Amino acid sequence: MNIQEIIAKKRDNKKLNEEEIRYFVSEYTKGNITDYQAAALIMAIYINGMSRKETTSFALEMANSGKILDLSEISNTIVDKHSTGGVGDKITIILMPIIASLGIPVVKMSGRGLGFTGGTADKLEAIPGYRTNITTKELINNVKKVGISLITQTSNLTPADKKIYAIRDAINCMDSMPLIASSIMSKKIASGANKLVLDVTCGSGAFMKNKEDAIKLSKIMKSIGKLAKMETICILTNMNEPLGHSIGNTLEIIEAIQCLKGDIPQDIKEIITVMGSYIIKLADKGNNLEENRKMILENIQNGKAYNKFLELVKNQNGDIEYIKDIKKFEKAKYIIPVISKEDGYVSEINAEEIGKISVSLGAGRTKKEDIIDKAVGIILNKKITDKVSKGEVLAYIHSNDKQKGEEASKQLINTYKISEIKLEKERVVLEVI
Ligand code: URA
Repeated sequence: MNIQEIIAKKRDNKKLNEEEIRYFVSEYTKGNITDYQAAALIMAIYINGMSRKETTSFALEMANSGKILDLSEISNTIVDKHSTGGVGDKITIILMPIIASLGIPVVKMSGRGLGFTGGTADKLEAIPGYRTNITTKELINNVKKVGISLITQTSNLTPADKKIYAIRDAINCMDSMPLIASSIMSKKIASGANKLVLDVTCGSGAFMKNKEDAIKLSKIMKSIGKLAKMETICILTNMNEPLGHSIGNTLEIIEAIQCLKGDIPQDIKEIITVMGSYIIKLADKGNNLEENRKMILENIQNGKAYNKFLELVKNQNGDIEYIKDIKKFEKAKYIIPVISKEDGYVSEINAEEIGKISVSLGAGRTKKEDIIDKAVGIILNKKITDKVSKGEVLAYIHSNDKQKGEEASKQLINTYKISEIKLEKERVVLEVI
């Protein structure tokens, strides 16, 4: 068997067997296949797709490319969550401290930005001192001590996914159903959880642009979960505009803190209550979803969720003075308002374009080596269905470079569509599968 034959097979739209997938994943992980050969195969997969059987093999082989975590000393039931990616998505940072404040252990590994979408690990690192990169032993100790640890993937987990994820980002092959499904499920299988709630985003700010594709992706991930004996629930959510108001690392951390203190935009509230209710159910802490929803809102109101967040940050070496006083976070040098040129109602916001503008300001990477500018990003003052008058501020650009900020401001205005008629607010949670 050799990699040239495998590339040619996929290039010619033929199915790969288990041995071929195992060969590619293990040899690429060991460094015996070059990045350009891997890139060629990934592009062929992107173009020709993979069957459900191939996708499942790909996920299981990637999961087995490194260690599989054993979390049994924490609990026999660990419920994990993951999102297929979005713009302004700070759900993990808000929801998981709430879950931990209810006495459910939280072990959560998050990724970095991919394409136009942000990454939770990058956002957490906007908190000065916060360590996302810790060993498995530290992770387990942290959860035993404060009930929660939010980190990036430990280095010995799914090394194959790490390499393939980076290549996909570099060659613009992110929005592929089999590649997303296998990437997510490999990490979740390896991270030692036995139950899983997935946020499957769909719309302009997601990799799946329509509901049909999001349903297909959900079904693939559920079937991989079944094979891996991981009970999996998929919540389809609307990503036709960024979540909440902030996009960018520090800006999203600030918004997450405000949410944990009770100031929550409606879209975020809907997602955390629905996802959270299912997490509580899978953790065997409450069968009644409505009661679970109440528990979530109660722990925000009584401050328990916010206090758990403080404990989490402190335990990860983060400076909690920034959390207690958000004015301490470093601001971007230039805050440029984007002004509406017309009266009406916001009828559309292109979330993917907003994600790209945020990356262009430095909030994400265009190359693997890029260093993220934590302070930059966008704050949306108006969202879909909001009334706007000519001269009113649609959004603010936060930039550390005047020229880039002005350019971003020109582009941002084009992501908004203003119409004379007020549209009906779209649902945020579309379906549970
Ligand atoms: N999140 C992941 O972990 N992988 C993907 O491919 C997309 C989103």
